[in-house]
Amino acid sequence: MSILIKNIKGLVQTRDSAHRMIKGSDMKTLPMIENVYLLIESGKIKSYGTMSESPDRAAEVIDASGRYVLPCWCDPHSHIVYAGSREGEFVDKINGLSYEEIAKRGGGIVNSSKRLNETGESALYDAAWQRLEEMKAFGTGAVEIKSGYGLSYDGELKMLRVIRRLKETSDLSIRATFLGAHAYPPAFKEDHEGYIELLIHKLLPQIAHEGLADYIDVFCDRGFFSADETSRILEAGARFGLRPKIHANELDFSRGVETGVNHNALSVDHLEFTGDDQIKSLLASETMPTLLPSTAFFLGLHYAPARKMIDAGLPIALATDYNPGSSPSGNMQFILSLACIKMKMLPEEAINAATINAAYAMGVESELGSIRVGNKANVFITKAIPSLTYMPYSFANNLVERVVIG
Ligand code: NIG
Ligand code: FE
Repeated sequence: MSILIKNIKGLVQTRDSAHRMIKGSDMKTLPMIENVYLLIESGKIKSYGTMSESPDRAAEVIDASGRYVLPCWCDPHSHIVYAGSREGEFVDKINGLSYEEIAKRGGGIVNSSKRLNETGESALYDAAWQRLEEMKAFGTGAVEIKSGYGLSYDGELKMLRVIRRLKETSDLSIRATFLGAHAYPPAFKEDHEGYIELLIHKLLPQIAHEGLADYIDVFCDRGFFSADETSRILEAGARFGLRPKIHANELDFSRGVETGVNHNALSVDHLEFTGDDQIKSLLASETMPTLLPSTAFFLGLHYAPARKMIDAGLPIALATDYNPGSSPSGNMQFILSLACIKMKMLPEEAINAATINAAYAMGVESELGSIRVGNKANVFITKAIPSLTYMPYSFANNLVERVVIG
C-alpha cells in the first residue's frame, strides 16, 4: 500500500538521524521545505522532495495544496486508563480548595483508584480507546501511558494489561510506564514501608515477568513520595531494566529533578518548581525536561520557567498529562498554544518540543517525531492555514484535517 501526498505547502521537521533531540538556541530553528511531495510505502516514509521530482502514481494520492504536513505529535506523559471522572473536585477547586487539600481528604488520585479497582478490564480498555481516538483527531500519533490508579497488586496489573492491549490493537505507538508509586493508598497511609515492599518485591517482579512496562515512574513531591523513597523505588526498577520517567517538582522543590537525573531518567516531568540548581543538574544530563502546561492551567499553578530553561541551553519536551484530576484533555494543539501564550515559547520551539523532543522523552525518536526516510509513517495534514504560526495562535481550534498512520 502506498500513499502519495503531493503539493504540500510546507513539509515540517525534516531531519537526518544525527538529531536525537534539539536544545537551547537550536530549538527556535524548525526545518521546513516548501512545495513538496511525501511518499509513504508499507507503513514507512519512502521519500520526499520537490514537486518537480514527484512520482505521479500511488495507491492513494492526496492533494495537500495550501496545507502543511508534520510528523504527528508525540505525547510522552499521560494517564488515560481511568474510570469515571472528577468534575466534583473541579467545583471544589473553584470554591477554593487546592489539589493537595483535595488529596488529603481522600479525593484526588485515591478517589480515581477506588473507582478503578471497581471497574473491569474491558470497560477500562473501551474508555481508554476512546481517549486515544480523541487524541489522534488532534494530531497525536504516539502516547506514553502510565499505570498508577490501581495502587494495589491487582489494580496495577490490571491497568498495565489494559495498556498492553491498547499497544496490540491501536495504530498509535504506545509506551507503558509503571507508576505504582503515584500515591500511598489508604490501607498503607501509616505504613509506607509496607507499600514500598509491595511495589519492589511483589509488583516489579511480576511486571517484569509479564513484560508489562517500558519505564518506571514515581510521584516525587511534597505529600507524596520523598526523594529517598523515590531513589529506592527507582533502584529496584533499574534491577528489572526499567528506566525512570518521573513526576518531579510540581508542588515544591522536591529534589525530584536531581533524583531523576541521578538515576539517569529518560525524562523528569512537570517542573513547575525549577530554579538554578535544577537547571544545572539537567544541563549535565541526558534527561529530557518535560513540561505539562495544561496542568498548571487547570490547577492554577504557576507555569514552569520554560524560557529560562531554553535560554540556559536545555531542551524541552511538551505533553498533555491527560488525566481526570489535573488535566482532563489530550489535545496537544492546546498544549502548544499554552506553551506559547503562557510560557513564552516561540511556535518553532513548541513544535520541536511536541515532536522530536517529545519522541525522545518516550524513547521513540529513532522512528517517530521527525520526517526522515525510513521513519514510521505517522504524520498529519493540516487544514488550509496561512502559516505554521497560525496553529498555536488559533487556540482551541482543531487545525488537523487528516492523520495518516501506517
Ligand atoms: O501528573 N501529579 C501527579 N499525577 C497526576 C495527577 C493525577 C490525578 O490527579 O489523578 C499529574 O498531574
Ligand atoms: Fe502526570
